[in-house]
Amino acid sequence: MTLPVYDVLRELVGAVADRLGPVSAPLGMVLGSGLGGLVDHLQDAKRIALADLPHLAPSTVPGHAGQLVTGRWQGRDVIVLAGRVHRYEGHDFSQVVLPVRLLSALGCSTLIVTNAAGAAHTGMQPGDLMLISDHINLTGGSPLTGPNDDRLGPRFPDMTAAYDPELLVLAEQVAQKQAIRVHRGVYVGLAGPSYETPAEIRMLARLGGDAVGMSTVAEVIAARHMGVRVLGLSCITNLGAGLGTELLDHAHVGAVATEATDRMTRLLAGVVADLPAWPERVPLF
Ligand code: HPA
Repeated sequence: MTLPVYDVLRELVGAVADRLGPVSAPLGMVLGSGLGGLVDHLQDAKRIALADLPHLAPSTVPGHAGQLVTGRWQGRDVIVLAGRVHRYEGHDFSQVVLPVRLLSALGCSTLIVTNAAGAAHTGMQPGDLMLISDHINLTGGSPLTGPNDDRLGPRFPDMTAAYDPELLVLAEQVAQKQAIRVHRGVYVGLAGPSYETPAEIRMLARLGGDAVGMSTVAEVIAARHMGVRVLGLSCITNLGAGLGTELLDHAHVGAVATEATDRMTRLLAGVVADLPAWPERVPLF
């Protein structure tokens, strides 16, 4: 990116407005591998292919649709990113987090991020849902590397409560009401794209990890940088390498996630319906 991110965001907000009229919503969502079906539940949905917007890198991963969808869900205005780009596709972290920064620039003060992940231990099974209580960044980098733009956020953002404790409790209460089994755990973000070795999975479990994946942490760092509060939800699609008998496979990961989409959608519908009052957000532009 040659333009400063701030100017890129201004152009992106303009490009979205050119296509859909002025767009603003207090809630943003990112849907991971196989989990894009949630957008079918939005009312008054309007879609833009991310490839039609300037500056955004196209997704090259099967199962990642690459759309920005606006609409209403549970009576709230939402903007959904169905699909994301990853560092392993060759994009640098500033590209990886640009869609999330766009959501923030469009007024999102709360972000729900979802992903498909492997279990780092046998306390969780394929098909289970895990609320992310914290993460460990083993991606080898940060989206905040380089000069800081104080208009976006501080040089040294605090990450003590990166995953909003109030939203975590709310999600657990909704899950209990709806009899949906959820775990709470630590997500380890890795560079990928190869899956882990069994030795790496054993190491990650000993380090305090519960689930492993190749996304999310950079997005959450960028969201926290911009003062956005975050709820993270992993769909456990497989046991980590060496914990089960099956070899790991992306198509299988996507299929398990798709099967869990209904449960995840029900859980998030309850969360969105019960979200506490929105904090006012000063528009970026
Ligand atoms: N490892 C890393 N990323 C993943 C996995 C896994 O086992 N499953 C889904 N995404």
